[in-house]
Amino acid sequence: MDFVVVANRLPVDLERLDDGTERWRHSPGGLVSALEPFLQSRKGAWVGWPGVADAHVPAFVEKDMLLHPVALSAAEVQDYYEGFCNGTLWPLYHDAVAPPEFHRTWWDSYVKVNRRFADAAAAITAEGATVWIQDYQLQLVPAMLRDQRPDLRIGFFLHIPFPPVELFMRLPWRSEIIRGLLGADLVGFQLADGARNFNWLARRLLDGEPAARTDVGARSRSGAIQVEGRQVQVGAFPISIDAQKFDTLSRRKDIDVRAQQLRAELGNPKQILLGVDRLDYTKGIDVRLRALYELLVEERVDPADVVMVQLATPSRERVEQYRLMRDSIESQVGRINGQFSRVGHPVVHYLHQSVGRDELIAFYRAADVMVVTPVRDGMNLVCKEYVASRHGLDGTLVLSEFAGAAAELTSALLVNPHDLDGVKNALLRALTMDPAEEHQRMRVLRRQVLTHDVNRWARHFLVALGPQETCRVSAPRTLGSRAEPEIFQQRPAPEGHDEAARERAGST
Ligand code: ADP
Ligand code: F6P
Repeated sequence: MDFVVVANRLPVDLERLDDGTERWRHSPGGLVSALEPFLQSRKGAWVGWPGVADAHVPAFVEKDMLLHPVALSAAEVQDYYEGFCNGTLWPLYHDAVAPPEFHRTWWDSYVKVNRRFADAAAAITAEGATVWIQDYQLQLVPAMLRDQRPDLRIGFFLHIPFPPVELFMRLPWRSEIIRGLLGADLVGFQLADGARNFNWLARRLLDGEPAARTDVGARSRSGAIQVEGRQVQVGAFPISIDAQKFDTLSRRKDIDVRAQQLRAELGNPKQILLGVDRLDYTKGIDVRLRALYELLVEERVDPADVVMVQLATPSRERVEQYRLMRDSIESQVGRINGQFSRVGHPVVHYLHQSVGRDELIAFYRAADVMVVTPVRDGMNLVCKEYVASRHGLDGTLVLSEFAGAAAELTSALLVNPHDLDGVKNALLRALTMDPAEEHQRMRVLRRQVLTHDVNRWARHFLVALGPQETCRVSAPRTLGSRAEPEIFQQRPAPEGHDEAARERAGST
């Protein structure tokens, strides 16, 4: 293969049913939503875990992608995936909003599993090919792969935030992680802040005091680091969605009919608030429920007028913090409904399940206010999906300042999720917004989302990655034939950029 994506999860998960049969279903999360359409058009290979323990499955073709499953034992699922990835790195990289745990056995498993992914990628990749490694679960793979295959062009992209320096420094294996990432030719982050933090750490940890545990000499310059005579590019590449697909589907008659049907099933309330998330403590689902509860208690919102729908995909259900959070959210939902619902008319409709793509877009079409309140999020694709689905220009987005998307979607109602009064005021403002203002804001949001889609993101990354990629993907229009990493925050689309997308953005 001459183009290989390596990610912890395959785009499909193996599901083992009670009757002993197995089937594949779509994997959860933004990484798969973003990368799948790109890889399908590129016809590459995808190396990843099938999502359950001890699944030894041979490679197979699915939707134009060659999938190479990597098996994990039950102990590895516990120590590598639930442990080091989601009990150490996930909370640490999300501002330590839950306490990260540091266990040497988890780290050992992380090293072992990263090596297995590196071996799998090395085995299927052609001479001189491009390998694109994804996310925090596989930060050691770039260096491990380079050791075996110095002929490859290696890119790494981190989908979640890269933490502030003082938080990263807590990690006992901080130098090893930096050294692992520096095995890549290009290390990409969602935002410029992450790129800057990484640059600083590379210099500090690998070049001098106090933690020079390795013999790697690293010198940082703006946007590039010199390591052992190689140059590692570092940049910010804000990820996005297949915006055109959401726009096209949202115009489909059957989806519109379903949206109206959903509204009727919800009791034809005056307004529908919507939340769509993996059930994760970083997503601030509790924040929006608390805000709604207080607005109801204070009689600033009438329960006869407003319904909130919260779709929550089950996620990492065996990790303690996720169990605690689920219990707490379910009790918040119970409290609101117990106090404010009428028979047959709950105020909050909470679905702890994944819905299909068409149904999801019907929810986006039905929702008057989209509420996205993470306490920290690398990007957040849900808010972009909502915007891309609102071709009528109605609807309001309430968006946390702590989502990466806030840097681009500045015409949303931006909120600080730690400021409950601020969130309540923003919800009220969204519920009472004048249609002219709503349209104006949505027009600007759509212009940004429809002109900055996932293909543009992938093109920017791959063109910055290297010479062989420059001739395989068309160069982004706004830059020269070889893109420079966007080290500074991405700005809203300039006037005159991509006329067709602008047309779609503004049309009703
Ligand atoms: P993360 O990667 O942390 O899960 P994102 O917001 O970036 O967060 O991406 C989440 C993806 O999962 C989006 O594409 C969204 O549409 C999808 N998703 C989230 N919840 C649901 C749900 N209940 N049903 C269907 N899709 C969902
Ligand atoms: O970037 C967010 C992310 O962690 C992805 O790496 C991952 O695929 C997705 O969320 C879902 O998480 P998980 O694979 O742990 O279910």
